[in-house]
Amino acid sequence: MKIAIIGTGYVGLVTGACFAEIGHEVICVDCDEAKVKLLEDGGIPIYEPGLEDLVRKNVKANRLRFTASTQEGVEQSDAIFIAVPTPPLPDGSVDLSFIERVARDIAAAMDGYKIVIDKSTVPVKTGEKVAETIRRYCKSQVEFDVVSNPEFLREGFAVEDFLKPDRVVIGVQNQRPVAAMKEVYGPLNAPIVVTDINSAELIKHAANSFLALKISYINAISILCEASGADVTEVANGIGMDARIGRRFLDASLGFGGSCFPKDLSAFIKISEHLGYDFNLLKEVQRINTHQMDRFFKKILDTLWVLKGKKIGVLGLAFKQNTDDVRMSPAIELCQRLQNEGAELQVYDPEAMQKARAILENVTYVETMDQVAEGCDALVIATEWPVFRELDLQKARKVMTHPILFDGRNLFDPLEMERLGFIYKSIGRGR
Ligand code: UGA
Repeated sequence: MKIAIIGTGYVGLVTGACFAEIGHEVICVDCDEAKVKLLEDGGIPIYEPGLEDLVRKNVKANRLRFTASTQEGVEQSDAIFIAVPTPPLPDGSVDLSFIERVARDIAAAMDGYKIVIDKSTVPVKTGEKVAETIRRYCKSQVEFDVVSNPEFLREGFAVEDFLKPDRVVIGVQNQRPVAAMKEVYGPLNAPIVVTDINSAELIKHAANSFLALKISYINAISILCEASGADVTEVANGIGMDARIGRRFLDASLGFGGSCFPKDLSAFIKISEHLGYDFNLLKEVQRINTHQMDRFFKKILDTLWVLKGKKIGVLGLAFKQNTDDVRMSPAIELCQRLQNEGAELQVYDPEAMQKARAILENVTYVETMDQVAEGCDALVIATEWPVFRELDLQKARKVMTHPILFDGRNLFDPLEMERLGFIYKSIGRGR
């Protein structure tokens, strides 16, 4: 198939590269000419495992191209995917101005039947608006279909998630685009859910909110574990073995972050409000998430008492493992809170230091994980990078002024930490 992807952010670029990889002819469009140039020269604006190789390989095979012209993308494609940002507005609702702009641009360039597919996360009923906009702005009487095809990619695992999805959701208003959509995704051999557009749009917000709810649920359980001497990891394992519950997304933490869950939760609460329902359950999910960060911070304060003049080493700045993304990162929020109390920070992240520099100033960025403990009164683990488990704890203990470790991601075993002589505080583990 000939496919255009409008927007080359995380979602657009991964989608474009993966469609090319499974044999389609793809043209990726971005209004940022510098970005288009970078991509044409083989550069990648984000860190995403496996993506760079995929882009290079498919550019070389002439299956993947980049352009700054929406017109070129539309004219040369049968299926046009919209993958532009839908950022939050100050009241938590969604800014749909990029979607509207792209719908107009697509309409202006349409020269024959096209399938216009929304991949961006949008409120339910946006598809109707996109169809209305295209109808209004298209110059001639060309036919088109609007489809909703939400993405379920996790940053850091996006290529893997794209190529091996649990399901592909396709929302349509009529059956005409279904065969083409099945052809687009056919090579993946994945289960395909064909439904109406409104349901497809709701599936996306409902899925992300449910996953956030799962994390807040286990984080609430972590409070009970701390109060009772139980261990939240044991509880997660025990309940997760029930196939109806599942073990994934039950890792207690200092809270979830990133550019999706916090934004999508706020948006879903607003969408519900517009539809006449007060989604209090999701407000509680948000509240637990904020409380979890407050509790972790209090643990640090209770142990170290005064932070002014104390040196704290922080491992992890990204909002989670396997990414350089620091947007809405709990790690960054924690660093800023520590700084506000007068702590001096020494920080390290395997991938996110460059992006962190733009938002986190007056800290010492160190080159290796081992350097972070040097001369510190305490260490904090803020991101679940697996490599942090390989930290040489004996060595860290020797170079720290005090062997205190606050683990916001439960990477270490409390008994082992005690044996090594650490004062060790983690999440939801009674000891
Ligand atoms: C999330 C969803 O998982 C994707 O399916 C979805 O496509 C994406 O949002 C999106 O809407 O674009 P992502 O934000 O990349 O993906 O990251 P997740 O892996 O879901 O993690 C989100 C946050 O939850 C991170 O801060 C992570 O550390 C935290 N988390 C995750 C926990 O605290 N505990 C867990 O058990 C799992």
